[in-house]
Amino acid sequence: MGAHGEPRPLTAEKSTLTGAAEVPGDKSISHRSLILGALSVGRTEVTGLLEGRDVLDTGEAMRAFGATLERLGDGHWTVDGVGVGGFMEPDRVIDCGNSGTGARLIMGAMATTDLTATFTGDESLNGRPMARVTDPLALFGARTHGRRGGRLPMTVVGAADPVPVRYEVPVPSAQVKSAVLLAGLNAPGETVVVEKEPTRDHTERMLSGFGASVEVGEENGRRVITLGGHAELEPRAVAVPRDPSSAAFPVCAALIAEGSEVTAPGVGLNPTRAGLFATLMEMGADLSFENERTEGGEPVADLRARFSESMKGVEVPPERAASMIDEFPILAVVAACAEGRTVMRGVGELRVKESDRIAAMAEGLRACGVNVEDDEDTMTVDGSGPLGVPGGATCRSFLDHRIAMSFLCLGFASRSPVTVDDAGPIATSFPAFESLVTGLGGVLRRG
Ligand code: S3P
Repeated sequence: MGAHGEPRPLTAEKSTLTGAAEVPGDKSISHRSLILGALSVGRTEVTGLLEGRDVLDTGEAMRAFGATLERLGDGHWTVDGVGVGGFMEPDRVIDCGNSGTGARLIMGAMATTDLTATFTGDESLNGRPMARVTDPLALFGARTHGRRGGRLPMTVVGAADPVPVRYEVPVPSAQVKSAVLLAGLNAPGETVVVEKEPTRDHTERMLSGFGASVEVGEENGRRVITLGGHAELEPRAVAVPRDPSSAAFPVCAALIAEGSEVTAPGVGLNPTRAGLFATLMEMGADLSFENERTEGGEPVADLRARFSESMKGVEVPPERAASMIDEFPILAVVAACAEGRTVMRGVGELRVKESDRIAAMAEGLRACGVNVEDDEDTMTVDGSGPLGVPGGATCRSFLDHRIAMSFLCLGFASRSPVTVDDAGPIATSFPAFESLVTGLGGVLRRG
């Protein structure tokens, strides 16, 4: 069942996609703009905000902690913040819906303030591991009481007298890194986060932009981020670039659907997010980057993708996984349409996303006639090449927006249509997906 309603089956048929795909604002940056706005004193103005359910849930949470948010127009919001340490104790349960980013970042943001808050989410979020965040938050002095296995619903009692923390993140996770940095804002002294593998760096960039003292260095090949505590954040204007993780869907659909040519203007191309595009180029995709520029402190370009008949399977190295962690489901679809075998290594984190994305992709691709092998940390897809993917199956989306969109993109290229059992979750990150792809010529049918 969809997160907030009845399941919504949707079927994609063979199509040709042409035109401009104006994808929505970056989800990661949108969450952070509302949270950092709430932690600033004064008014932050945000343009290009993703108005997906995940981000709106974070907005509601910021209201519950005392910030004032106003919507001025499409993607145009103001946030009147309460300052670091200024959060009020919420008088209701904080419902983060489907969003791991929302839940984990907000827990971090409140963990060093003397108040108590209870967090919950949908069935997907309430099944996801939270110990990865509550372990480091405990080092600051926060206490948490959740369900068995460290799951939501969970109550967090913020530290009244926090201490600064040095934390080496044991899993490659920008959410964990960000939770620790946000908690460090209201601790004295310096909070240090060490990353073995670099993950998306929007929190570091934005904290600097909001006036916090953030230094990024390197120690023995590890990334070391040092944040000055008892920070005072100053509001600023945030222009959110378009989301590369959302652009991935129309771009990849164009590469695999015969005769297609799609442009996606103004897409964020932060190097910590751009691994998919490097992989597609290695596969032989006809993909170009035009008008490369910097917008709102992030590298941005216009992408152009053309149907690419002769893409080949590749080995995706494990050290690239973090920079494309949300793009493996759609890469698996491209791999299914390419010729030869694609091996994705070091992708174990996919098992704890909105769904177990390795299992979800393997199940649906197999149903569509594709050979997939998987183990804990690896996914291997044998491409159908010029014969084309048979399709003709119903794939389960497991409350996961990216699984739903990936299989619909497959349906635009496969020999027979592909149905997803529930397209409802797409609204968490890309509410206009259906109208955008149908506007490009993609054939979608309800049911
Ligand atoms: C995100 C970090 C990633 C990513 C998620 C967004 C973020 O999660 O999968 O969609 O905004 O920090 P992890 O930190 O769990 O890798």
